[in-house]
Amino acid sequence: MAVKELKPGICGVGAVDWDRRLFEELVPTPYGTSYNSYLVRGSEKTALIDTVDPAKTHELMHNLRLAGADRIDFVVCQHAEQDHSGSIPEVLKAYPEAKVVTNPRCKEILMSHLQLTEDRFVTVADEETLHLGGRTLRFIYTPWVHWPETMCTYIPEDAVLFSCDFLGTHFASGDLFWRKHQPVRDLAKRYFALIMMPLREEVIKNLDKIQPLKPAAVAPSHGPVHAEPARLISAYHEWASDKVSNEICLPFVSMHGSTRKMAEHFTDAALARGIGVKPFNLTCTDIAELGAALVDAASLVAASPTVLRGPHPVAANAVLLIRKLKPKTRFGAVIGSYGWGTKVVEQICGFLSDLEIEMLEPVLAKGDPGPEAFAALDRLADTLAAKHNALGLR
Ligand code: FEO
Repeated sequence: MAVKELKPGICGVGAVDWDRRLFEELVPTPYGTSYNSYLVRGSEKTALIDTVDPAKTHELMHNLRLAGADRIDFVVCQHAEQDHSGSIPEVLKAYPEAKVVTNPRCKEILMSHLQLTEDRFVTVADEETLHLGGRTLRFIYTPWVHWPETMCTYIPEDAVLFSCDFLGTHFASGDLFWRKHQPVRDLAKRYFALIMMPLREEVIKNLDKIQPLKPAAVAPSHGPVHAEPARLISAYHEWASDKVSNEICLPFVSMHGSTRKMAEHFTDAALARGIGVKPFNLTCTDIAELGAALVDAASLVAASPTVLRGPHPVAANAVLLIRKLKPKTRFGAVIGSYGWGTKVVEQICGFLSDLEIEMLEPVLAKGDPGPEAFAALDRLADTLAAKHNALGLR
């Protein structure tokens, strides 16, 4: 990533990871990602906001040279996770005068994660400001989006909010800003689902803190800068709210075709009753898409055959992930087939017991599903249609 000017005196000096396809060995990133770092110059002092993943330290250092950064006074660390903090030691080596500016919680984590010494830090309180000369950094604590120490930085003179992971996207781009017609909402939703959804209540609290600022631009530390952030902030409000849509998320896996027949029959039955359905064959599903479907769906129907009495491990894995993502799903059911005996319902319901999902009557078929199983699936679709209607979903 070359140096890119966000505003006169503010430029992006981070790194684009074009070919990263899996983040944290969990999150699919089919469009790559970026680790954004911003150099902010005042008339007296210069600050660097966030650094980059250690694998890309050399790119950050190269960009700082390109930007002519012969002095850095402050390295603002908004979040201690290594994809943003991991290059701080190299930056401090190259700029021995620099101090790490962060909150006390983040300082504590950085000292243990990066072996930084106390004398390198300046800690700031919530809403504290730091003057660079003609430019002010205002630090806004935004805990739990998505670690306890996460914070944002606002520059009132430019109305730019630096949000780190919050309001980010995994999208590699040669541009600093989103281009018109790029699918920012869809990509932001994938990101929200896997990183922010488990912390919906905290997301709302933090939106309430930043929204009054009415930022003209939001510069996250993953993905391009949002030049029209109001739309994304509004989408975050919607995703984080309790509002659900008239949809069923249907993750399934099938070994010999029986569970697939049930998933397909149920899909048709639900569609015929006016409910949207998103089936996901778990053997080839991008789990970020599954997560994105669960951001809104009112219902979850998990379909699995039985393997050694329990759910197929692929289905079990998906259900465990869903448990961690804590979607706002209202209704759930288990469907599937078995050969000779099963505890699939008990086990899947056990995995989901932390969530406030009303589990409905399951539908299980011994072997190939016949008329009885299909009729039971129709009844399940009837029940869900009635439940959705009762919520006023159309
Ligand atoms: Fe992008 Fe939580 O790190």
